[in-house]
Amino acid sequence: AIRSIHAMEILDSRGNPTLAVQLELADGSAVVSRVPSGASTGAHEAVELRDHDKARYGGKGVLKAIDHVNTIIAPALKGMSATDQVAIDQRMIEMDGDPQKARLGANAILSVSLAVAAAGAHSRRQPLYRYLGGLNAALLPVPLLNVLNGGAHADNNVDIQEFMLVPVGASTFREAMQMAQETYQALKSLLQAKGLRTAVGDEGGFAPDLESNREALDLLVEAMEKAHVKPGEDMVLALDVAATELKKDDGYQFEGQLLTGMQLIDYYQLLVRDYPIISIEDGLSEDDWDHWQLLTDRLGDRIQLVGDDLFVTNPERIARGIDEASANAVLIKPNQIGTVTETLEAIRLARSAGWNAVVSHRSGETEDTMIADLAVGVNGGQIKTGAPARGERIAKYNRLLTIEQSDSALTYAGWEAFRR
Ligand code: PGA
Ligand code: ZN
Repeated sequence: AIRSIHAMEILDSRGNPTLAVQLELADGSAVVSRVPSGASTGAHEAVELRDHDKARYGGKGVLKAIDHVNTIIAPALKGMSATDQVAIDQRMIEMDGDPQKARLGANAILSVSLAVAAAGAHSRRQPLYRYLGGLNAALLPVPLLNVLNGGAHADNNVDIQEFMLVPVGASTFREAMQMAQETYQALKSLLQAKGLRTAVGDEGGFAPDLESNREALDLLVEAMEKAHVKPGEDMVLALDVAATELKKDDGYQFEGQLLTGMQLIDYYQLLVRDYPIISIEDGLSEDDWDHWQLLTDRLGDRIQLVGDDLFVTNPERIARGIDEASANAVLIKPNQIGTVTETLEAIRLARSAGWNAVVSHRSGETEDTMIADLAVGVNGGQIKTGAPARGERIAKYNRLLTIEQSDSALTYAGWEAFRR
């Protein structure tokens, strides 16, 4: 049973405050969980409660959320069994009472929900992925590694936020990471040779000043060739356009022009024709349901179309998307919805419609590795957790390398992850 829950303020990878929770069980053992934070957040996400006290961390402190954990949530959960995840999450949802968890804060609620999952696994003496997924957990996910950045994640003139390497042809996770890392290093050499910047963005990707999105894609294909990785065979590409950030009242601001949703769809069709692209995330903005449907109708049988800001890991929005055939995959970020139970529900719902579910980090991360276990546990076959660089990204990859090494029942998802 839960003996105590204690939250404290720690820092994320951007140096902004976030929550860590230590949960102690009756036998004296303890687990710690930490909460991530986004930058290009969707308007429909659950509320991340910040202090807005300009005297501390420019208003970004999380002392209110911490106080909610320590004085409201902790006393209510004391004595409950850590394996009662559903009941505990339900209790917190009811205590908050707001559909976007604005009262206690989704960051407060998630910090506890994550710690309860870790404690539940600990008390069952199971690895977290096995505890979450049971015998259904059979796959190591294909990593989608963000190596080139634009948009809100970089100060350059590239509009697409993320260009990702997808080492889909590897036969093990370990080989996938090596292939990706060697391509990442080849990309770095190419940028250096061209006199371009190799400083990295929030997720470890490079953010050079390039002329166009196509120039970025050409560089990635060139990097693969330089690393002796076959484009379209060993490795393919994925994009996160993060189009909500490009949306203006009368269209999308893209490569110096104002485009309609339809023009953007035409543009994607040409990119997919010319480059080995397997997946496009947030190709349209978070409320542009009509164009999402058109995009899926046009490209949905050829590539994966992932809703991030569109669905915000919210079962209600995913249900609408399934109903309207708005996409064919969902990005899964536990802090967009605020509990482990609702995160699992979102994944179940998406997969019941034959959709893929891509487990994802946030641009502001910590050393927490829960999402690595989540990706294995739900058997979705894909994880998006940044470049093979920066400690907070590497922590997730190292966790997956360790899981692969320790559990011979798991196999690398490879191409299978993109079959629907
Ligand atoms: P965020 O970016 O964590 O800043 O929202 C990641 C994404 O858009 O997928
Ligand atoms: Zn995104």
